[in-house]
Order: sequence, then structure tokens, then C-alpha cells
Amino acid sequence: MFRRFSVAAADPDDDSVRQNGEISDPASEPPVPTPPFTLPWPPLVRGTVALRPWGASDKDPEYLAAAWADADIARWTKVPQDRSRGAAKTWVAGEGVRRDSGKALDLCVTEAGAPEVIFGEVGMVLVEPTRRWAEIGYWLFPGVRGAGRASVAVDVFSDWVLHSQGIRRVVARIPDGHERSAGVVARAGFSAVGKLADGTVVWCRDAAGTVTS
Ligand SMILES: CC(C)(COP(=O)(O)OP(=O)(O)OC[C@H]1O[C@@H](n2cnc3c(N)ncnc32)[C@H](O)[C@@H]1OP(=O)(O)O)[C@@H](O)C(=O)NCCC(=O)NCCS
Repeated sequence: MFRRFSVAAADPDDDSVRQNGEISDPASEPPVPTPPFTLPWPPLVRGTVALRPWGASDKDPEYLAAAWADADIARWTKVPQDRSRGAAKTWVAGEGVRRDSGKALDLCVTEAGAPEVIFGEVGMVLVEPTRRWAEIGYWLFPGVRGAGRASVAVDVFSDWVLHSQGIRRVVARIPDGHERSAGVVARAGFSAVGKLADGTVVWCRDAAGTVTS
């Protein structure tokens, strides 16, 4: 059913390491311009789920450090070694720089009308600049899981980046057996299109809707 699939590593600072072990040679590829990403306007809201930029509240680094300390978030997403509030503050301060570089964009998931309380995050890294493919990432705090918020956030965010940020395909790499996360992308209109050597399932969604290859 699945075929092997190659997509660059989702690290905005590392263009060379491939998930499947293949090493690209950046020197042999001409640099591709990456126009800045912009913030959504009007803000993205669907039902009770709203997305807003990081840094809108002084409390944001506290929320981020708390997220990095959550066992599930640390297990399934890429969190830094230094998970202190200071490191979180630096990360939040750098969001605009990453966005302006056109390499990454992250938004907070909140309740509509209550932007100061962060429920989670959804964001993307431009993993294939030539093809304009971005990899999506997301998390929710444990207390707000199980109500469909992540599915809505991923759906709204993907729709927006595909139609307003020049992204042609949104890719999600879901570790084998992470059914909760697979459920999120399935509900958000992604299709499973491939499997990496380690069992990670690759899901995609493009501007025309779901994709099958
Ligand atoms: C992955 C993660 C975001 C999923 O969170 P979640 O709350 O289960 O996902 P959703 O918000 O889409 O909610 C879906 C659940 O709410 C239920 N639900 C309730 N009302 C719903 C509604 N209106 N719409 C959709 N789902 C609804 C669904 O049935 C589903 O529950 P189930 O899994 O028991 O069937 C969360 O587990 C998490 O943050 N994990 C750690 C980080 C992580 O793994 N990130 C992904 C890395 S690949």
C-alpha cells in the first residue's frame, strides 16, 4: 500500500540531512529564494479555535517551557535540550526572524476570545524549498486534548498556508503507532502516501485537496 518516501529533515537550520539517510549536497543545488511568510490577517478562527502569533503575551515563554516539559510533547515532537523559561523566551523572540526568513512559521492555538491562554501550537517548516513543501507540527496541552481542537487547528492552518503562503504541499510525518496524531491529520484532510524505512508514515495534503501519491 505504501511506498518509500523521501522528505528533507524538518530542521529549519539543517538543509542537508534527509530523514531516510540520504544526504543532499547543498553546494550542488543553487540556493532557492524563500520569500518571507506573513501572519494571517484576519486572524484564523473556526468555531472556538483561534490561532494567533507567539509573543503576544509576556506569559508565552512560560507556556512554551511547560509544553517542552510535557512527556508526550517531548516524546513525539522535537524539543530542545535546554527547556528552561529563558530558552523558551529566546525561541519566542526568534519566531519573527524564522518567519521573515521564509523557513518556518508557528502559531499558538487558543480559545477564541481568550488569546492569553495558550492551548497548543501548530506550525510548519519549509522542508523542500524548490517544491514549496512544508512539514507541519502540532501539540496540545494534556488538559485540552480529546475535543477536536488539534484537528481544527491543523485543518485551518493547512488551508491557509496552501492558499496564502505559496505552499504547494503540507507534509506530516507520523511515527508508527501514534494513532492520536494520525487521527488529527486524517480529520484535517490529509492522506497517507508513503512509509519511511523506520515505519514513519508520511501524510500529505495539497492545495487541490487530498493527495494519493
Ligand atoms: C497529537 C495531539 C495533538 C492529538 O490531540 P487530540 O486532542 O487527541 O486531537 P484532537 O484535538 O483532534 O481531538 C481528537 C479527539 O477528540 C474527539 N473529539 C471530540 N469532539 C470532537 C470534534 N468536535 N471534532 C473532532 N474530534 C472530536 C475525537 O473523537 C478524538 O478523540 P479520540 O482520539 O479518543 O477518538 C495530542 O495528543 C498531543 O499534543 N500529543 C503530543 C504532541 C504530538 O504528538 N504531536 C504530534 C506529533 S506527530
